[in-house]
Amino acid sequence: MEKRAELYRGKAKTVFATDDAQRLVLHFRNDTSAFDGEKIEQLDRKGMINNKFNHFIMSRLEAAGVPTQVEALLSDTDSLVKKLDMIPVECVVRNRAAGSLVRRLGIEEGKELVPPTFEFFLKNDALHDPMVNESHIRTFGWADDATVEKMKELTFRVNEVLKKLFDEAGLILVDYKLEFGLFDGDVVLGDEITPDGCRLWDKETLKKLDKDRFRQGLGNVVEAYEEVASRLGVKLD
Ligand code: C5P
Repeated sequence: MEKRAELYRGKAKTVFATDDAQRLVLHFRNDTSAFDGEKIEQLDRKGMINNKFNHFIMSRLEAAGVPTQVEALLSDTDSLVKKLDMIPVECVVRNRAAGSLVRRLGIEEGKELVPPTFEFFLKNDALHDPMVNESHIRTFGWADDATVEKMKELTFRVNEVLKKLFDEAGLILVDYKLEFGLFDGDVVLGDEITPDGCRLWDKETLKKLDKDRFRQGLGNVVEAYEEVASRLGVKLD
């Protein structure tokens, strides 16, 4: 496999073509952004940690029957993935209240959500990723009904696998965001699962060990990501 032209530069990852039209390379950078890219910093080692963390989590999900795009770890910061036709909505599940749910509905941060909530957001930076519903997805043709059902089913299956995995590592999976795409007509989990895109709290102290440390200026961002990786047994060096 040969890495070729840069296809797309996102806020934290760059996507490269390969000599296989069906495969891409995801390059995880140290850039860390919040508030639609208003706050951006370089955090040493973050790209490497997230690449290895993502590979570890995606492998666990594959083993549990969730189809993912990840095929191989290529280097500290690069992974080989299937080229998906991405669906432009984000799927968010929340086990505890935090972030935009707290702001939107005035729910107390940390409240346990039983059953967990599920929300769709449109991937659109210019519109600040507004919340959308299934009717919008159907009317505007972002995905068909079977795909919507599959995304919901897979997002909740991910919750069952990851809640347990993090719990065993002394962590609460507060919430997370997933993105899906189509590969040969199948709905496949894409993008990444890292502390950039989920909230993880220490089970005992409720200390935040995710990107909220960056968003809220709490410091020790990379140290927190390393702590989570180490508790899960992700090999970093
Ligand atoms: O901001 P909000 O509370 O809606 O975020 C819910 C979850 O989705 C958080 O874990 C956040 O990190 C993640 N998220 C993300 N990318 C976005 C929006 C939310 O990773 N564009």
